[in-house]
Amino acid sequence: MQRRLAERNSKISSFHVMELLRRAKQLEAQGIDVIHMEIGEPDFPTPRTIIEAGIKHLKTGAVKYTPAAGLPELQNKIAAFYLQEHGITVDQRRIFVTPGASGAFLLAFGVSLNPNEEVLMADPCYPCNSNFSTLFGGITKSIPVDANSHYQLTAQQIKAHWSSSSKGALIASPSNPTGTLINPEELKKAINTVNNLGGCFYSDEIYHGLVYDQKAVTALKYSDNVFIINSFSKYFGMTGWRIGWLIVPDEFIEATEKLAQNIYIATSTQSQYAALAAFDDTTLTELEYRRSEFAARRNFLYENLLRIGFEIPIKPEGAFYIYANCKKFTDDSHQFASDLLESEGLAITPGIDFGKHEAHHMLRFSYTTSIAIMKVAMQRLEHFINKRSL
Ligand SMILES: Cc1ncc(COP(=O)(O)O)c(C=O)c1O
Repeated sequence: MQRRLAERNSKISSFHVMELLRRAKQLEAQGIDVIHMEIGEPDFPTPRTIIEAGIKHLKTGAVKYTPAAGLPELQNKIAAFYLQEHGITVDQRRIFVTPGASGAFLLAFGVSLNPNEEVLMADPCYPCNSNFSTLFGGITKSIPVDANSHYQLTAQQIKAHWSSSSKGALIASPSNPTGTLINPEELKKAINTVNNLGGCFYSDEIYHGLVYDQKAVTALKYSDNVFIINSFSKYFGMTGWRIGWLIVPDEFIEATEKLAQNIYIATSTQSQYAALAAFDDTTLTELEYRRSEFAARRNFLYENLLRIGFEIPIKPEGAFYIYANCKKFTDDSHQFASDLLESEGLAITPGIDFGKHEAHHMLRFSYTTSIAIMKVAMQRLEHFINKRSL
């Protein structure tokens, strides 16, 4: 029987790192020790306070649908967080609790993007964001970025690449894979540029809690006319709970509610009750401790990769990634990553997963593992490089 895959499937790119992960699991099954620095997931468990809040609710048995936009108490806590962290008042009706940032993107693009409309994105960027726009028939306009703009789109680039088919621009700060932040002045200019062009500005702020030397600035500081995508996954350590949030401009509230009701009815109820504890002082104290641990890991990895001979033109300011140039060692980072896994049991992600620009020279290292383990990882990496140069 002929299969009838929808055409859009051919436009959705697959993650090369998944193949690497599959191979890593095979090696582990053979008893080989693999160090995982390819995964974008913190090694810390979900904080106890959050788990207990989830269990407490589960025990009531009242695990029913919530309103599509989320539990009002949770919307309220998210709004309070913006006031406390950024001094910004957000109308609770604009906040939607979603199944992760991924769910937030589905809604944001679903309510704003028509087929064949373009979304401007940096190359490199997190590939799923581009695939979400493709799912709605949108077209990603990838714009090569470099260290000069901290690997972020600039207002100038947005203006230069804007066309009659452009609908919006997406900025993820800190970025995955580069871990770099947009400069606040540049963020403001980029938002104003998109708004003046009549487009939609999408701000992926999922790594906001994980910034080490300064505070991340939310796009909401400069305009209410923006989509904010955020999540409990990374800073709050809740990847598997599938919960995040979206903040929409006023005129999108009704449409977003309707779409949420239809696509997934509501975000997981126990996860929402668990997330109510995410902003408690005890939880935040624990999360701040973890943030300082991530900062120490970043420093360790950054210094060691430089010492080994990787190029990292700017020190990443956030997330848990270092995007390093390996041109001193190879012109094929994909092969390099695959050989490194086979011969040393060290898994990292090749640049081709994040775009085309300079991708064959780039590797993403995640510091989602302890310094003690990363010490071993660095020995393996050096051993691998030394062996190649013999
Ligand atoms: C930049 C970025 N945005 C969005 C997501 C989606 O995260 P989640 O759906 O777990 O909230 C990720 C996950 O790695 C990411 O790196």
